[in-house]
Amino acid sequence: MESLRIIGTGSYLPPRVVTNDDLVRGGLDTSDEWITKRTGIRERRIAAPEVVTSDMAAQASLNALEMAGLKARDIDLIILATVTPDTHCPAAANWLQDKLDAHRAATFDITAACSGFVFGMNIAEQYLKNRTFRHVLVVGAEVMTRVVDWSDRGSCVLWGDGAGAAVLAMGEEGAQLLSTHIHSDGSQGKSLLLPGAGSMASPVTHESVDKGMHHLKMIDGKTVFRAAVHGFMDAIVEAARHNNIAVEDIDWIIPHQANIRMFQNISQTMNIPMEKFYLTIPKYGNISAASCAIALDEAVRDGSIQKGHLISMPVFGGGITWGGAMIRW
Ligand code: COA
Repeated sequence: MESLRIIGTGSYLPPRVVTNDDLVRGGLDTSDEWITKRTGIRERRIAAPEVVTSDMAAQASLNALEMAGLKARDIDLIILATVTPDTHCPAAANWLQDKLDAHRAATFDITAACSGFVFGMNIAEQYLKNRTFRHVLVVGAEVMTRVVDWSDRGSCVLWGDGAGAAVLAMGEEGAQLLSTHIHSDGSQGKSLLLPGAGSMASPVTHESVDKGMHHLKMIDGKTVFRAAVHGFMDAIVEAARHNNIAVEDIDWIIPHQANIRMFQNISQTMNIPMEKFYLTIPKYGNISAASCAIALDEAVRDGSIQKGHLISMPVFGGGITWGGAMIRW
């Protein structure tokens, strides 16, 4: 039966591993015990200084294209979800297009913070179902470690770098993307803020740099934590109900990878065994828009996901944004 499909996934992680102990050795006032206990994170990947977001996005995309059996010239649209683009203009998706030589594709970036990959799939769904495009490449890619404030131990330990990608198409082969769901609440926008080179922080001055306006700011971690737990749970329930699926019939929860304690909390509240959560948090930390795309690709490639499995992909991010997807592999 022809329906919306994920026909290829791919990911890329920079090779440099930085452990919690490395952060301590680098002078940060923290400990492996504190970070592991509060977050589950043991290490993260950090991109080399010369590597930009579109470089990692290109590697992940090539892997996804290979799995899909497509060439870059087959792609009609590239949607790149990121809060750390190479440049604000042109979009990082344009740099990516050039690196892939996907010359037929239209391109744009989207900003939905850590929810970006599911927002991207939701946009792709519209174009594919109305037959505007045949093949859409959705990518989440971030160099979060370049925008964090390395003197703020309350937030800098959380983040890492990397990229994940998926090729979507209408067809009869591949995993069925049963539904996607997206939500936002701008009234809570200040809880996770990246003024960067936006108009709030422009023009860039010595004063704006001294104030750290170029850094990611997490105002109240506990409030973000609670909002994320609610967002994830709502997203799991919404996608299950929409598809008439009982939550207990879901084989894998592949969430945005923020904090292990969030999923321990959800596991208890919703009675979902922890083994059903596919988590990359210990080795990669939070890679914002790339996190769930990387986890999906790893779960496919290591054989955790088998044909017929039902996968729920709840996401939550700054903005605030949240949403979910239901996939039948
Ligand atoms: N190492 C050691 N101590 C640290 C620390 C670190 N890296 N970061 C903070 N602390 C200290 C604080 O200074 C505070 O000390 P005090 O009690 O002497 O004042 C204490 O630990 C508790 O800090 P608190 O911020 O209340 O901890 P927490 O239990 O809320 O955990 C987070 C902090 C960030 C791990 C947690 O709030 C969280 O995960 N929030 C969600 C973040 C997130 O996922 N954001 C992205 C969403 S997509």
